[in-house]
Amino acid sequence: MATVDLPLLPLGRGTDLNSERGVECPGDLPPASDPALVARARAAKDALGEKVFVLGHHYQRDEVIQFADVTGDSFKLAREAAARPDAEYIVFCGVHFMAESADILTGPDQQVVLPDLAAGCSMADMARLTQVEMAWDALVKAGIGDSVVPVTYMNSSADIKAFCGRNGGLVCTSSNADVALQWAVEQKPDAKILFFPDQHLGRNTGVLKMGYSVDDCVVWDPHRPNGGLTTEQLRDARMILWRGHCSVHGRFSPEAVDDLRAEIPDITILVHPECRHEVVLKADLVGSTEFIIQTIEAAPAGSSWAIGTELNLVKRLADAHPDKRIVFLDKAVCFCSTMNRIDLPHLVWTLESLVAGTVVNRIEVDAETEKWALVALERMLALPGRTAKD
Ligand code: 13P
Ligand code: SF4
Repeated sequence: MATVDLPLLPLGRGTDLNSERGVECPGDLPPASDPALVARARAAKDALGEKVFVLGHHYQRDEVIQFADVTGDSFKLAREAAARPDAEYIVFCGVHFMAESADILTGPDQQVVLPDLAAGCSMADMARLTQVEMAWDALVKAGIGDSVVPVTYMNSSADIKAFCGRNGGLVCTSSNADVALQWAVEQKPDAKILFFPDQHLGRNTGVLKMGYSVDDCVVWDPHRPNGGLTTEQLRDARMILWRGHCSVHGRFSPEAVDDLRAEIPDITILVHPECRHEVVLKADLVGSTEFIIQTIEAAPAGSSWAIGTELNLVKRLADAHPDKRIVFLDKAVCFCSTMNRIDLPHLVWTLESLVAGTVVNRIEVDAETEKWALVALERMLALPGRTAKD
């Protein structure tokens, strides 16, 4: 099998300075213990005024999210980035693929900055363009190339989004995956969907929203010849799911749901669709981070909730709603380590550098990739509108 460029180094195997890029920031990164950090961030932001717009994903730390001009899920933040043509700098407090999407959706004179370049996403790294192209060739060889529509989750690199744009597909997020899949199946007679990188969002949407059976979905393993599938399996499938997952949401277990139901009988279980199918089947409600927030805001005082998503958000919701009982679905699950890379010292360093006229950690997608990724993103943005609560 051909080798592919893996962005991460398996522990203990060689050294590659690039694999830890961004850990050392050039210039003076203030120490986390500096008691003046909040005041410094505020002063730098005030000095930049309208020139800067700070976007914050819901999984960001409290110390960072307090400086966001807008908070949101991936879909809302993509729209917000596109709606700020006057901001010279977009500081993206989130992860790399989100900043790339913001760069694609903003004008050529706007500069998008990610405060720490090590804020990647392990799920996005599970689908590399070379791997996707090898899979595509195999589907053509299996005689089904003409019926496949590629759909990528927002959590993917810009070149994968461009692949989808170039090949008649689109991008989706957790708040519009069902509408996006519906669009995809309408593009071709007997359409099959190739969905990456999150097998769980793909399966949860295909089975729960599109009416497919679990057996209609096969899993393409990029590390096995022909994805580990026979030609017959590929021809029979309605959805071909990439073998990728979120290292945070993939850890929630159905047993944790059972345990909490036994402990708190009137509890409502609310999870993100990146959770495994067996967890989602046991939950009461499933939706994007924005949906989770809106659901808790609308819940009556005294109600009990277990939430299966990233811990920063769950803690923030518990703090903001002391009149409701809000618990984390599984105590064994950790923060998203890459989202947590963005901390106050990095934000201060980024903003103060901008004040001094230096743009650090700029995220810039090359023109050819941008052209086709924009096609895929615009197909998503043109989907019939909805709010997170639909
Ligand atoms: P949403 O905010 O779109 O629900 O996505 C969650 C996520 O995993 C971002 O990395
Ligand atoms: Fe990626 Fe999962 Fe972290 Fe989201 S929560 S950024 S999908 S690793």
